[in-house]
Amino acid sequence: MNNLNVVPDEVLQRAKANVDSNGYLNIEIDPRLDLFAEIERLKKEKNAILLAHYYQEPDIQDVADYIGDSLGLAQQAAKTDADIIVFAGVHFMAETAKILNPNKKVLLPDLKAGCSLADSAPADLFAHFKAKYPGHIVISYINCTAEIKALSDIICTSSNAEKIIESVPKDQPIIFAPDKNLGGYLNKKTGRNMVLWNGACMVHEIFSLEKITKLKVRHPKAKLIAHPECEDAVLQVADFVGSTTQLLKYAIQDSAEEYIVATETGILHQMQKDAPHKTFIPAPPNNSCACNDCPHMKLNTLEKLYLCMEYETPEITMDETLRKAALKPIERMLEISRAAGLIGG
Ligand code: 13P
Ligand code: SF4
Repeated sequence: MNNLNVVPDEVLQRAKANVDSNGYLNIEIDPRLDLFAEIERLKKEKNAILLAHYYQEPDIQDVADYIGDSLGLAQQAAKTDADIIVFAGVHFMAETAKILNPNKKVLLPDLKAGCSLADSAPADLFAHFKAKYPGHIVISYINCTAEIKALSDIICTSSNAEKIIESVPKDQPIIFAPDKNLGGYLNKKTGRNMVLWNGACMVHEIFSLEKITKLKVRHPKAKLIAHPECEDAVLQVADFVGSTTQLLKYAIQDSAEEYIVATETGILHQMQKDAPHKTFIPAPPNNSCACNDCPHMKLNTLEKLYLCMEYETPEITMDETLRKAALKPIERMLEISRAAGLIGG
């Protein structure tokens, strides 16, 4: 360890004892410490892989081994031979990595990095809901808890959802949870009539169609690109709808010079890096704030990331019966995605 950050044992023990209530190791870091260099050192020393979602702050994205959407991250977690998986994302993502890797240590910089969409589907209420629809299979968006995954037949992400639904016979009734906006979009795309759980993402449901329309008047050549967690009114006027990875690819390959981006602002960092000559404008929400940051994703910081790697805390732990039940629908998703050529072997 760099001697700029020698932590007395009693301070470390107190921070560890309070990790459940704080969500992270609350230890002061010497501001002269080079956190980028320290994180690189820890990756090598501990054979750790650092996976980050596009909604993480730019510094975290820049130090990650892999940045991706939920499907890409799940696939990386499924195939890694690292001893430790450090997940710079939210709880359900790190939990998915643990479900796939029971024998690896999975670290999350802040245990309180949750997800409003996952929270919108409590398992006990969902079990009652499911019981009302006998004969239906359950397809759940990966943004849900392990308990909801255990009640599901197949998991999907925004980049494979259509293929997953198409893999199910047309006459098989389906419940889709927890995102009603993604579910509604998929019903339209696939011509199905899936029963939808009434959940939504707090970031994607607040984009203002009125403000987007005004923005389009000021930027007539700008294309609107949107994540399918957005409300139908926004999706209807979008030039392209896709997962974060699909939005990024589209923005790079498409010929326009300007884009209004209706998803969390973190993705703009990669868009700007990969297409520096283009202009990316965050779509405005219907409140006074000018940006759309996910408060859960942004709980992770470079400092918390360094601390969780140095002291291997907080760690994701799971009940083995729950893990096995949640694993089945994730494996099904990976099999269908492989067969559809969406991910490699
Ligand atoms: P994707 O990156 O899979 O599109 O998911 C977006 C999201 O909301 C993650 O929380
Ligand atoms: Fe959850 Fe929405 Fe944040 Fe994604 S952006 S983690 S869906 S609250």
